[in-house]
Amino acid sequence: MRIILYLGKGGVGKTTVAAATALRSAQLGYKTLVVSTDIAHSLADSFDVALGAEPTPVAENLFAQEINVLAEIREHWGEMQGYVGSMLRRQGMSKAMAEEMAIIPGMEEVVSLLHINRQAQAGHYDRVIVDAAPTGETIRLLTVPESFQWYVGRMTGLGDVTLRMAGGLLRRMMPDKDPLTGLNNLVAGVKELQKVLIDPQITSYRVVLNPEKMVVKEGARAVTYLSLFGYPVDGVVVNRVLPGVESDGQGEAWVAEPSQDPYLHRLQEIQARYLGEIERDFYPLPILRSGWFDVEMVGVARLDELAARLFGERDPGEVMFVGQTQTVVEEGNDFVLSLPLPHVELDKVKLKKRGDELYVTIGNFKRELLLPAVLAQREASGAVFVNGTLKVRFPPSTVPT
Ligand SMILES: Nc1ncnc2c1ncn2[C@@H]1O[C@H](COP(=O)(O)OP(=O)(O)OP(=O)(O)O)[C@@H](O)[C@H]1O
Ligand SMILES: [Mg+2]
Repeated sequence: MRIILYLGKGGVGKTTVAAATALRSAQLGYKTLVVSTDIAHSLADSFDVALGAEPTPVAENLFAQEINVLAEIREHWGEMQGYVGSMLRRQGMSKAMAEEMAIIPGMEEVVSLLHINRQAQAGHYDRVIVDAAPTGETIRLLTVPESFQWYVGRMTGLGDVTLRMAGGLLRRMMPDKDPLTGLNNLVAGVKELQKVLIDPQITSYRVVLNPEKMVVKEGARAVTYLSLFGYPVDGVVVNRVLPGVESDGQGEAWVAEPSQDPYLHRLQEIQARYLGEIERDFYPLPILRSGWFDVEMVGVARLDELAARLFGERDPGEVMFVGQTQTVVEEGNDFVLSLPLPHVELDKVKLKKRGDELYVTIGNFKRELLLPAVLAQREASGAVFVNGTLKVRFPPSTVPT
């Protein structure tokens, strides 16, 4: 089975690209399910059909679904939280503490992920394409299984009271199981899920971008975090590129056919700038690209056109890239950030850091990097470029006197 999850800033084309991917995958003969986890569903609009909480056939081999377990769980869990909270307070716990302990963070997300995974297995789908919510929420969704396990460990330590209370909800979710078994099963399910989500042969994350500043920044941040948590990113989709904007695929982009309209020409120039930046900053991830259509990309025929632009003859379900885009390892007290870079002339590496942004200049090659929080707090002491990989060293920050 393959799971492909599209993420990116609001409005960049995640739903449309997910729908096109699913369509092409189904056309190639794979039984495909496309699922939307965004509460503001638009998958139905994309296919121009009505969809529900159960997989609905939309074309040969293709099923689509808008999950709504979120709302359901929130409802039951909200009730549960109230009970657990007041119970803990009666046991003498402070209000703030009791309230905090009563919340299992990300319960809804865990359940919806489990739901997708279970369904994928049970429905014998070859491929599951996930149309995710905008970036921030999706990253949170993905980090939830870990914090969830941590929390449950803490809760189990609390003893019977909480467990008995949690039992009510768990019984509803998993009838004929006693609460403890239920909870243990849930934890086991989450562990399994985590394995699936980080297995590059099963799951791939693709970031959808448009060539514009804020979208690119958010996308870069997403890749940083996904890499850090070990979630396999296998490509970048650059959607809505204006006609006349070209690139060499290696970081040089230009306006090949300037528009007669000065307004459009300026937009072309902006896009060329960010298209080049995308090719440099997201290296070595493969880039799939589509132009900006002058029609609404809704319905099977349009999605088919988009799939042709994005994938050509390629199978969108193939694993497009395997490997680390960036890693952070501890060496003594230092952190070392490793980053593969395209073939650049060996030259002096210049670093400039501003907040969580690091600007790397090697000769006339420039790359902007968004640093994870642990590194943003430190200063880079130097960098070396060996065997196609840039290594930047971050010693512990010295406390200002
Ligand atoms: N390549 C394209 N050319 C023209 N229109 C496009 C293209 N890609 C997407 N669109 C249109 O842009 C709009 C936004 O796309 P879509 O809903 O897929 O974005 P999204 O990232 O899922 O948004 P949200 O974050 O709100 O879920 C839609 O009207 C869609 O039809
Ligand atoms: Mg969407």
